[in-house]
Amino acid sequence: METFKKKPFAAILVAFFLALCDATMQNQKSTYIVHVAKSEMPDSFGHHSHWYDSILKSVSDSADMVYTYDIAIQGFATRLTPEEALSLKNRNGVLKVLPEKIYKPLTTRTPHFLGLDIINDMSIASSNGSEGSDVIIGILDTGVWPESKSFDDKGMGPIPKHWRGKCESGKNFTKENCNKKMIGARFFYKGHLASMGPLDESSQLLSPRDDDGHGTHTASTAAGSVVFGANLFGFANGTARGMAPRARIAVYKVCWDSGCLTSDVLSGMEKAISDNVNVISVSLGSSALDYDEDSLAIGAFAAMEKGIVVSCSAGNEGPKPSSLSNVAPWMITVGAGTLDRDFPAGVTLGNGKKYRGVSLYRGDASASFILAENASVAYPDMGSKCETGSLDPKKVKGKIVLCDRGDTPRSEKGFVVKNAGGVGMVLVNSKQDGEGLVADAHVLPTTAVGYKAGQAIKKYLSSNPKPTAKIEFNGTKLGIKPSPIVASFSSRGPNTITPQILKPDLIAPGVNIIAAWSRLKPPTDIPEDTRRVDFNIISGTSMSCPHVSGLAALIKAAHPDWSPAAIRSALMTTAYTAYPDGKKLQDSSTNKRATPFEFGAGHVDPGAALNPGLVYDLKVTDYLNFLCALNYTAEKIETVARRKYTCDKHKKYSVTALNYPSFGVVFEKDAKMVKHTRTLTNVGEAATYNATVTADIPNDVKIMIKPNVLSFKTHEKKSFSVTFIALSEEPKKPLGFGRLEWSDGKKVVGSPISILWGSPGLGQ
Ligand SMILES: *[C@@H]1O[C@H](CO)[C@@H](O)[C@H](O)[C@H]1NC(C)=O
Ligand SMILES: *[C@@H]1O[C@H](CO)[C@@H](O)[C@H](O)[C@H]1NC(C)=O
Ligand SMILES: *[C@@H]1O[C@H](CO)[C@@H](O)[C@H](O)[C@H]1NC(C)=O
Ligand SMILES: *[C@@H]1O[C@H](CO)[C@@H](O)[C@H](O)[C@H]1NC(C)=O
Ligand SMILES: *[C@@H]1O[C@H](CO)[C@@H](O)[C@H](O)[C@H]1NC(C)=O
Ligand SMILES: *[C@@H]1O[C@H](CO)[C@@H](O)[C@H](O)[C@H]1NC(C)=O
Ligand SMILES: *[C@@H]1O[C@H](CO)[C@@H](O)[C@H](O)[C@H]1NC(C)=O
Repeated sequence: METFKKKPFAAILVAFFLALCDATMQNQKSTYIVHVAKSEMPDSFGHHSHWYDSILKSVSDSADMVYTYDIAIQGFATRLTPEEALSLKNRNGVLKVLPEKIYKPLTTRTPHFLGLDIINDMSIASSNGSEGSDVIIGILDTGVWPESKSFDDKGMGPIPKHWRGKCESGKNFTKENCNKKMIGARFFYKGHLASMGPLDESSQLLSPRDDDGHGTHTASTAAGSVVFGANLFGFANGTARGMAPRARIAVYKVCWDSGCLTSDVLSGMEKAISDNVNVISVSLGSSALDYDEDSLAIGAFAAMEKGIVVSCSAGNEGPKPSSLSNVAPWMITVGAGTLDRDFPAGVTLGNGKKYRGVSLYRGDASASFILAENASVAYPDMGSKCETGSLDPKKVKGKIVLCDRGDTPRSEKGFVVKNAGGVGMVLVNSKQDGEGLVADAHVLPTTAVGYKAGQAIKKYLSSNPKPTAKIEFNGTKLGIKPSPIVASFSSRGPNTITPQILKPDLIAPGVNIIAAWSRLKPPTDIPEDTRRVDFNIISGTSMSCPHVSGLAALIKAAHPDWSPAAIRSALMTTAYTAYPDGKKLQDSSTNKRATPFEFGAGHVDPGAALNPGLVYDLKVTDYLNFLCALNYTAEKIETVARRKYTCDKHKKYSVTALNYPSFGVVFEKDAKMVKHTRTLTNVGEAATYNATVTADIPNDVKIMIKPNVLSFKTHEKKSFSVTFIALSEEPKKPLGFGRLEWSDGKKVVGSPISILWGSPGLGQ
């Protein structure tokens, strides 16, 4: 069987290749998403699909409709040559013609991603009463393994009345696979079929059944039932449960071996919206795009209008700055942090020195030790990464091998060592990986160590004629401090699309997360790995996103009338930015203080989020006015919002007026003053709140809050402004960070502040 995690790459390459071919061979067809101004449909067409057909016929006799949409977007997906796509763009009523994209599930199992370690078991804050049982979370992912105990519906009441979805049957999946926990399941593959050809049915099931594991993992993280004694080979043994263990799950399988295509994702989103889910969880990403070019953002806008919370992964492209995906202000953008749980596995060298690492392999090894490059058969410089075929079995047999990270999946390297007759592996971080460690379910005794330890071990290896090593795994350790730490792979700000919107919004656990798995895939991404597990431990912003989706469901259950913006505000303003001892959250890529560009408002605090005191609320018109502030043309606005909206020529719109719970301050060229305005809604008891603001660049910027005391009756709204004044011509630092807190002496309503000179992406 093919692995899932490796293929998206191949697929992306294929897609690029096809795109290249398209450029030279103008008759090659590829899939386009066509956004249409439905409001301009001539009366003569009874139904929009007839109109869409006629638009399509006008440019191509042979084009097939892949999908017609009416909810997530207005328009259709079809196969066109680049020439036809161009001419379609000029048709009446056509707003935008976007090429299909491939989204990736965001685990760190692909070598491309950098990794790290592990917080408080947040599930303790989740309830096990009936709270949340009327809330439905839609998961757009690789499907579901329905037999998992995490989807047991014991004790669950009747299916919520607002549910409109269904349980589709397909290969190895029947209606009976759904229950009162997993209430619906659908699958979407027409886009895949059109772009990639028929699915390889030997490894992929044409049904909602998860043949990968990722979707089962994210669904059970968001809303899995309580399972006692869940573990992976004994690791992390304990009670597994989703963040909202009483919430219902609706599954939308939109990802296949080669990735998740826009047209399928949009179709899944369209159904999730019409099925009446309350939260949509999207552990997928690509790269940040302007909102009218970002089909996922456009679909999320439609969901937001219906009161659905859309929670998304921030991306695994860290520690590179400006590496976020899913940055639209109507989405929740979730970064990843570690837990207080670790899986230590130490290595002791022949000279007695010990180094700490991590592993999910139960077993020890003691043997002579060799650098992979010294056992390399062919390529001296590639030999250090233990790639397939790079090791000489004669030299490796019976030995522990030191392998460098990079280029191939971490657990695959162990497989290569094992195949060459090795008995153990020490996996060393590159300089860029730093000290961040990810535990993997290796196939032989292994420890993954940080960059510094790796350097010391290499020194020992090259200076000793008869080096030896002993690898000892040491189970599961709790109470690791400090935790959480921002994962080095977690994508970072600033937001390149609208730097005034500070992203990510917050972080949640995304390193070494245990959750349910598919029995069709091994715990590693190695096809030859024959092990099958009920739970797996994996890492990525794919894992942090469903934590926030589940928590959003709990807040929705407690406050059914709250808008998606109010729910996000509650999650953000109660997030914490310091450890209990007062020290600030750290970043694992640097082992230094993290900033709001890494953690946004901070680490989610489920208990506090249920009762935030004040919220920064937003309505659909606020987002429309935001688009006006971006100087969007009428067409661009209609593409995003699926309706005509006229910006008032006499009105002054400002991006800094969007009532967002954070402050992305940008001093454009020569600007001396930036003013943000906000409105707080009291969702608690009557109280008086005072503002305090702190910033780490007091000599460069003065911050004034007006008024700085607000007295609220219950449900009352009050507005304030924050004015940032540049004190010096040349700021000493190109960027700075701060925090605004409103407090009544009991509750703290906190907002992060970032201050930039010049816009990111436009060259500072
Ligand atoms: C969950 O239920 C158990 C047993 O009924 C109870 O002891 C525990 O306090 C409950 N936890 C929460 C967070 O309500
Ligand atoms: C699906 O396959 C599994 C084994 O692979 C089997 O146990 C189960 O009964 C099958 N279910 C359906 C609905 O075909
Ligand atoms: C997990 O913990 C439970 C309860 O402590 C114990 O009974 C069980 O044997 C443990 N399982 C493993 C695999 O360690
Ligand atoms: C391994 O290779 C390094 C150079 O990469 C060399 O300095 C060292 O002597 C070699 N060690 C052995 C045991 O061959
Ligand atoms: C394993 O854990 C135990 C108990 O926490 C500790 O005493 C021991 O030193 C650890 N061993 C290694 C090799 O880290
Ligand atoms: C929009 O246009 C106005 C007037 O030309 C300009 O002042 C403003 O900076 C523009 N806003 C953005 C976000 O480009
Ligand atoms: C808020 O400020 C007022 C006056 O500045 C002060 O009397 C009051 O104690 C403050 N309240 C809190 C909760 O800090």
